[in-house]
Formats: sequence, C-alpha cells, structure tokens
Amino acid sequence: MNNILDLPSTYDRLERPYAPQGAWRRWLRKAIHFFSYHLILKRKGTRRSRAAGFSLVVRPTVFHPSYFVTSKFFAGFIGGLDLHGKRVADIGTGSGILALAAARAGAAHVTAVDVNPNAALTAAENAAANGYRDRFAALCSNLMSALAPVPLFDVIISSPPSFPGEPRDLADRAWHAGPDYRDVAALFEQARARLRPGGKLYLLVSSDSDLNLFGTLIERNRFTARLVARRSILFESLIIYELEGRALEATRSVAATPSVAQPLALVRAANA
Ligand SMILES: C[S@@+](CC[C@H](N)C(=O)[O-])C[C@H]1O[C@@H](n2cnc3c(N)ncnc32)[C@H](O)[C@@H]1O
Repeated sequence: MNNILDLPSTYDRLERPYAPQGAWRRWLRKAIHFFSYHLILKRKGTRRSRAAGFSLVVRPTVFHPSYFVTSKFFAGFIGGLDLHGKRVADIGTGSGILALAAARAGAAHVTAVDVNPNAALTAAENAAANGYRDRFAALCSNLMSALAPVPLFDVIISSPPSFPGEPRDLADRAWHAGPDYRDVAALFEQARARLRPGGKLYLLVSSDSDLNLFGTLIERNRFTARLVARRSILFESLIIYELEGRALEATRSVAATPSVAQPLALVRAANA
C-alpha cells in the first residue's frame, strides 16, 4: 500500500509567518508524552504485534509501531519506492519496521541501526521472522558512527525522535532528541558522507518538530529538500522530506538559492 498523499501545490509557498506553539498546545504535547512514556515506551514486557503487514516482536523500551502512527505511515511510503538493487540504511530503526519495508520494496541489502540495543536485537529478530535475514544487518550504533565508511548507501531512511529536550532514559530517546536535537544533529553530515552521488535521504518529521533547526542542518550539509508526503493527524502533520545532496558547483551559488529553512518553517506555521 502506498500512502503518498497528493500534496497541495502551494503547500510550501504559504506566506504565513513562523509562529511559536501556544501554551495549550505545549500542554497537550506534554500530556501526550506523559501517557506515551508511561504506558507504551517504558513498558516492561515484550509484545507481539502486526503492523504494515509484518509480524513483529517489540521488546521493552522499543518504539511500538502499532501505537505510533508515524511507523505505519512511513512504512507505507517506503512501500511505494522502487528499491530494487539498492543498499539502504535505516537510522533509528526501533522494531525494524521501516527497514523491513525497504527489504520488501526490493532493497539488495538493508542496514538497520539504533542507539537502543533492545531495538537492534528486536530488528534482527523481526527480519529473521519475516524472511529477510539474508539481506539484513542490525546493529547498535549512535547514528552511523559504528558503520564502516564504505560501501556507500543509495538510500538512507530515518524517523528520528521528533522533539527536542533531554530524554529521561533509553526508551525516551525515541521521543526526545536532546536539547536542540543534540543526539541526532550529526545525522545530516554523516548521511552526506555515506550517500552515493544521487542518493536520497528520506526523513520523517512532525509539524511540531523544530523545523527551523532541521532546515538549518539540511542547508548546512548542502541538501536540497523536497516535501514528498504528508498526513494530518489530530492537531499536527507528519511530513516526509526527500533530501538529495547538491553537487559542488550548485553549492557555490547557495547564497542565491532560497533557504530550505523557510519552507520548513512555513509548514510548521501552516499547522500551528
Ligand atoms: C521515533 S522512533 C522511530 C522507530 C522506527 N524507525 C519506527 O518508525 O517505528 C526513533 C528511534 O531512533 C532511535 N534513536 C534516537 N537517537 C538515536 C541515535 N543517536 N542513534 C541511533 N538511533 C537513535 C530511538 O532509540 C528510536 O528507536
């Protein structure tokens, strides 16, 4: 199933100014985190689940793909890509659901990494249980730091923690990325170095993420961003960006090109 939505052609050309979140919205976000953390992220037992057509085990502290809509939305999007013969990396794999979706979409090999060792173990188990063991490697790594510098990847996918703030523990690292996205900020530089020319980074963010900051990181690492899918859920939107590295010549005229930070901020404002 392909979840790509038809995007309004004017979506990233809206001219509303950037507006910080209001008090009630911040309160609502805190309440959602409180229940998600205590009831789902921090749970003690291993769960069995089905999501995006996969049979999955979800160990304690691992992001549960059945409770959080981001996982199925992104897995559906990946299902619409032609990944035949491609080398793919999934950074922050959780249960491995996105990496499995890439394997099912034809990827020649998928590397799934997570900073949470329970997640790396879970992803490996789920790959074996769903018949992808021979094209799949899972490892515990802080972003791409434990990966060899070569071979390069054709596609990198990532659904990083959506919100800034100090994580309470390992489980909470699925939600909080540290102050100013400290724990995932290096992803863009690392991905730039590990992508083949013409390779793509697919990134899922929330309209409540700090899109200005993501835009700055994207721009700083000479990626061009294109909004490729969006889904509205209750009071926020889930947004998938396709990032492609600009060639060296193109980066010389970067000052003349519009910053991606602006459209990202406008997406946020449009959902405020
Ligand atoms: C929002 S969850 C997404 C999980 C999974 N990809 C999915 O879509 O269901 C974010 C994941 O990123 C992982 N993570 C957070 N910081 C990381 C880092 N610095 N390096 C690797 N993984 C990280 C978390 O442990 C968590 O599994």
